[in-house]
Amino acid sequence: MASPSTLPDAAIARRLAGVKTILLVLSGKGGVGKSSVSSQLALSLSSSAGGAARVGLLDIDLTGPSIPRMLGLDGSPVHQSSDGWVPVYADREQRLAVMSVGFLLRSRNDSVVWRGPKKNAMIKQFLGDVRWGELDYLIVDTPPGTSDEHISLVEYLAPFSPVSLMVTTPQALSLADNLRSLDFTRKVSLPLLGVIENMSGYVCPHCTECTNVWGRGGGEALAQREGLAFLGRIPIDPGLVRVLDDAKEEAQVTVAQELGVEKVSLEDITKPLPDADADADAATATASVAKASTASTTTPAGTRLSRTILQRYTASQTFPIFQEITQRVVEQLAKVRETQREAKEQREATQ
Ligand SMILES: Nc1ncnc2c1ncn2[C@@H]1O[C@H](COP(=O)(O)OP(=O)(O)OP(=O)(O)O)[C@@H](O)[C@H]1O
Ligand SMILES: [Mg+2]
Repeated sequence: MASPSTLPDAAIARRLAGVKTILLVLSGKGGVGKSSVSSQLALSLSSSAGGAARVGLLDIDLTGPSIPRMLGLDGSPVHQSSDGWVPVYADREQRLAVMSVGFLLRSRNDSVVWRGPKKNAMIKQFLGDVRWGELDYLIVDTPPGTSDEHISLVEYLAPFSPVSLMVTTPQALSLADNLRSLDFTRKVSLPLLGVIENMSGYVCPHCTECTNVWGRGGGEALAQREGLAFLGRIPIDPGLVRVLDDAKEEAQVTVAQELGVEKVSLEDITKPLPDADADADAATATASVAKASTASTTTPAGTRLSRTILQRYTASQTFPIFQEITQRVVEQLAKVRETQREAKEQREATQ
């Protein structure tokens, strides 16, 4: 495989100029939790517990985009401003910006067939047209394996020193697939911050005992053998599935309970929240939501729905576990940057 170019595309360079760290979430196998890890990392880093960073979440799984659904944002419109696409903001403080091909599909069940060159063009457009602004992290959720999308991404992003992390489940098959992904990161010199083992055992909520449904420790063993950092393990959490997979439906119930009404419409909960203390008084809130939504023509900056998802996520059993993983990700990133800085200084000294 040819080494990626170090000359940035001009449009991409302009868009990513304000992005400090680009982090690709990889796995060799499908369904192991890349999208849920990407969503959790984005929620965790952008929440105050995670240091309230400004985070962008880019879903480039062109054939199976799941980020909008996981953040309860599907159906949200992407606005085209005179200065490019405006991402969809998941919170009213605009700390979490999201872009996905899922926003561009008419319905969640639309199927799209992408050919290689079209995929490449779409990825280039995602990187070159989205108005991210200043970001501490741009997290990129990728499809499984090493496909056209990964090759395009790495080529376009090489000048911006991206890093990656790998998600695996404890099974052996998944580990064999991950070896191929690992080989890819080495061939294209993409630093790997470490390995996260997902769906690692099941903690019974009644007895707090951990049952190793699909084994345990495979991700850690892989990390050890390959000299990678082990970032942590996330048990199977049925509560997390409800937070992420039934985001909209569950949030609708929560908001209806909060408002003391029987049912709320999706439209009610996906309108932008008007102001910080709007939640205190439901009646005032409903009235001002209507005002705010007519005033806001560009960005849906936080809605009842997304706020509810964040609250529900922070109350999940997995949240404290993921906070520790986030901490390790940040530490590993600092180490990689230090190594890169030293290597650069050495190169300059020998020139
Ligand atoms: N720790 C966990 N506990 C329980 N369910 C989980 C956990 N992690 C992920 N899931 C669920 O497993 C399913 C697959 O996860 P996810 O979509 O994140 O995987 P993926 O690797 O992105 O899949 P794909 O390869 O299709 O993109 C989802 O329904 C998700 O909610
Ligand atoms: Mg996915």
